[in-house]
Amino acid sequence: MDDARDDDQVAAPRTVGILGAGRVGAVLARLARDAGIEVRTASSGDDPAAACGADVVILAIPLGRYRTLPASLLEGRLVVDAMNYWWELDGARPDLDDPRTSTSETVAAFLDGARVVKAFNHASVWELENLAHPVGHPDRRGLAVAGDDAGDRRVVAALVGAMGFDPVDAGSLASGVMFEPPTDIFGSDATAEELREMLARFPRSQRGRVVARARGEAG
Ligand SMILES: NC(=O)c1ccc[n+]([C@@H]2O[C@H](COP(=O)([O-])OP(=O)(O)OC[C@H]3O[C@@H](n4cnc5c(N)ncnc54)[C@H](OP(=O)(O)O)[C@@H]3O)[C@@H](O)[C@H]2O)c1
Repeated sequence: MDDARDDDQVAAPRTVGILGAGRVGAVLARLARDAGIEVRTASSGDDPAAACGADVVILAIPLGRYRTLPASLLEGRLVVDAMNYWWELDGARPDLDDPRTSTSETVAAFLDGARVVKAFNHASVWELENLAHPVGHPDRRGLAVAGDDAGDRRVVAALVGAMGFDPVDAGSLASGVMFEPPTDIFGSDATAEELREMLARFPRSQRGRVVARARGEAG
């Protein structure tokens, strides 16, 4: 995997599709529009074709319903997974709660051919609503970005930056496990610098040890 430095700049996408028009979908749509990006939203029951044709497509549906996503329309597309496994919403789903596999890898395996990047998931709706700020603002928070292609991570980083947060490159899609629930990063409202420190500390955290044991990486 090649490296995408946090300060490598590319332009933010011009169009964003959002699948899911609930709490997260609505606030992400507002932030993108505020950034001057054309937004195409599709909720369940809508024709998702226009949303899936956007430069970047954000997934903001309950994770337990990922198999209802229009996989054929997302083939070859840059897709941002903003979803989390939340048992209260999704029910008991051992397939989404296996520490050997990040949930974004599970989504990527279903969306065969899509370029999946994980982002926006570890912020609460409140944080997204209230803590988006322009570059350089002292209260600007960080958001982690994980994906297997450095170029795709740069595009999503530019989107995160335009929408009011400092992107932090977290590496591969498998590394997305470091900011899923339940981790220290999830819901932490951290700055970019604090986020980098938490990512570095992850292997020593409680969840990090669970993941390492499950993956046979424990020393
Ligand atoms: N809430 C948070 O603080 C937060 C923060 C970050 C990330 N997330 C994650 O973001 C995702 C959405 O959370 P939410 O709180 O926004 O949920 P929500 O308010 O329940 O909204 C989900 C929306 O997705 C729609 N939907 C379901 N299947 C769909 C499909 N195949 N295509 C298009 N739309 C579909 C639902 O429509 P119907 O109601 O008609 O089924 C609903 O409007 C979850 O995975 C969650 O874990 C949540």
